[in-house]
Amino acid sequence: MALTFKAAFLALMLALTRAAPFILWVSVILISHPDGDSALPDRCAGIEFDAITPDDKGQTFFFKGDHVWKGFDGDAQPSSQYFKELNGHVDAAFRMHNPENKGDHDHIYLFLDDKVFSYFEHTLEEGYPKEIQEDFPGVPTHLDAAVECPKGECITDSVLFFKGPDVHVYDIVTKTVKTKTWPHLPACTSVFRWLEHYYCFHGHNFTRFQPVTGEVTGNYPKDARRYFMRCPDFGHGGERTTLKCSDFKMDAITTDDTGRMYMFKGSNYMRLDTHRDGLHAFPITRSWKELTNGVDAVFSYNDRIYLIKGDQVYIYKAGAHFTLIEGYPKTLKEELNIEGQVDAAFVCPGQRTAHIIQGRKITYINLAATPREITLDAPLPFGDIDAAFCSSDGIKIFQGSNYYHYDSPMLLVMSRIAPIPLKVTSAMVGCED
Ligand SMILES: *[C@@H]1O[C@H](CO)[C@@H](O)[C@H](O)[C@H]1NC(C)=O
Repeated sequence: MALTFKAAFLALMLALTRAAPFILWVSVILISHPDGDSALPDRCAGIEFDAITPDDKGQTFFFKGDHVWKGFDGDAQPSSQYFKELNGHVDAAFRMHNPENKGDHDHIYLFLDDKVFSYFEHTLEEGYPKEIQEDFPGVPTHLDAAVECPKGECITDSVLFFKGPDVHVYDIVTKTVKTKTWPHLPACTSVFRWLEHYYCFHGHNFTRFQPVTGEVTGNYPKDARRYFMRCPDFGHGGERTTLKCSDFKMDAITTDDTGRMYMFKGSNYMRLDTHRDGLHAFPITRSWKELTNGVDAVFSYNDRIYLIKGDQVYIYKAGAHFTLIEGYPKTLKEELNIEGQVDAAFVCPGQRTAHIIQGRKITYINLAATPREITLDAPLPFGDIDAAFCSSDGIKIFQGSNYYHYDSPMLLVMSRIAPIPLKVTSAMVGCED
């Protein structure tokens, strides 16, 4: 009896062993074909992208083979759905930044072998595809990656083309190329500019670099699945803004003559004028390395940004990046001839007067005079002000989740009652409604 049982057991085991490869094979098919569509790549599986670029609406496209993903969330789709003429992979892609030439500003350029395709609003422009040489003389064929680099971040409005360890910096105005070699950077298969930051993607990782020098600072590589896509089992590794608009409170805000607008809150800052591509908080120290403790008030004057924290004033020159002027920080007394806690500050475009708000008082300071001279001290109709800025549209004064609008500093100083408060919105500062 026992023997028969043992024989039967062995026979069963043998049958199972023979069937094992078949069973495994069946289960692989079942797992990889959950909805019958075998060809869809999964970006959470850790793939290497061929190219990444935003479009004119700020939607980001991730390319892999003949598929694309639109945005940081969602499944792959055939690339021909958005770029009808594509029927295979692309080598590189970028969105043109050329405000001087409306003819190609915000166009998406896609590269394949020796050809370039130009799309606007997802329609192929007439005359494309062209030879790369025809549109971008001096730029090699069979590229690895490409990325736009606007003036201010690069020296001139440029495109960086990556091939092997070489970076070909193409000046879009003079149509000339300078070649640099950044051997310390991993071989980028795609490069993505997002909110003034430059990311080289390699494998499922990315490395952030400085677009003029190629310098890498910080802890890289990082896994793209934690930052640029929503994947189960991969939490978000960066800062998230989850503050409700009704609880919103900022520390400082400024806009400069070129229209760049920065908002500061706690240890983070956010660039607000580029909201087309999304709003995201970055550590203040990433752009202003000496400001390790947040800021109380900030204003822009000429090509400088003045950041005030406690009784210290930090002045940075704005260029490809912000550089602390030698001899700074200085005290408020030394630099602006005032003392005490500063709540908010602003300078109107093209003007020389700093308006400093402290409690229920506003002080006008002539920045063109040395030593600084106070030209007016006036009471304000309300206090508890967090931040303020002045643009060609007038002045906005922020108080928690409300703001007030005035057409000019004069009207602010002359008014005796506060105007009707307006609510900060998700579109303005990235809070949640
Ligand atoms: C990704 O980066 C991690 C370090 O963060 C490294 O250990 C890993 O080898 C990298 N993988 C690839 C495919 O580059």
